[in-house]
Amino acid sequence: MVAKNAFAAAAIGMLAVLGLAASASASQGRAMLADTMMMSMMAPAPGMMMMSMAPAPGMMMPMTFKQPALPYPYTATEPFIDNRTNTIHFTKHLATYYTNLNTAASTNSSLAMMKLEALVPALNMGTPKVIRNNAGGIFNHLIFFKTLMMPTAMTNSTNNTMLPEDIATAINSSFGNFSAFEKNMTETALGVFGSGWAWLTYNPKTKALAVEPTANQDNPLSAGLNYSGNTPLLGIDVWEHAYYLKHQNVRADYIKDWFMVVNWPQVSANYKAAMSGDMSMLTSYASA
Ligand SMILES: [Fe+2]
Repeated sequence: MVAKNAFAAAAIGMLAVLGLAASASASQGRAMLADTMMMSMMAPAPGMMMMSMAPAPGMMMPMTFKQPALPYPYTATEPFIDNRTNTIHFTKHLATYYTNLNTAASTNSSLAMMKLEALVPALNMGTPKVIRNNAGGIFNHLIFFKTLMMPTAMTNSTNNTMLPEDIATAINSSFGNFSAFEKNMTETALGVFGSGWAWLTYNPKTKALAVEPTANQDNPLSAGLNYSGNTPLLGIDVWEHAYYLKHQNVRADYIKDWFMVVNWPQVSANYKAAMSGDMSMLTSYASA
């Protein structure tokens, strides 16, 4: 508990420098105040650039946020999500979010010290777009790819009889049955206007599951962006880059195919992590 509080205080101090401290909870107030005072001495005067934190010309930029390897072959989710889509999605789209966030971190050592699981819940309306979009983009895609798997009898099930017992019970308790959840998730994903996500989330206060959308690269954890603050267990990316090569404009077909390759044992593991408050587990990869 001590280590956790110390980490939270340090994180809030960094957020103060980033202009993100407004999202800190009241319980973190005292730690935030002390760290804000300390960190404010390190912050540049108004109007000044933080040039001292930029690498000298010719120096390599530090790779603060490192993209892990995909834990399965790009072909693993064929034929439902195709090799080419997975390859471009992981090696181009996700890689670009890493490049952009690392570029921002190269001139901002406070950002460079942040962990995604602390940064994403602290995002708010004052956060620079480059941080909001790219930190969210990385966090969301790590959850997305981690909750896909090769199609099996489990993923092909149209009910939850083959799902791990804990997540099956939670889905039944919150939605009535698996079909009702599937309908809710499908309609929410279809209802996202433009680019965004639909999520299965865990509410730490009520212990119930919910389905909710986010826009662009936002995440439900970001209460400061007017989302629920719930913990994401499973998310479907409904940006066109996630499905256009195979499904073109038919998002409904992509959603049906996505359900065929959901990694329910991983969703169950995410559920356990959410109940224990361990956010780092949601996006941890063996190769990271
Ligand atoms: Fe994506």
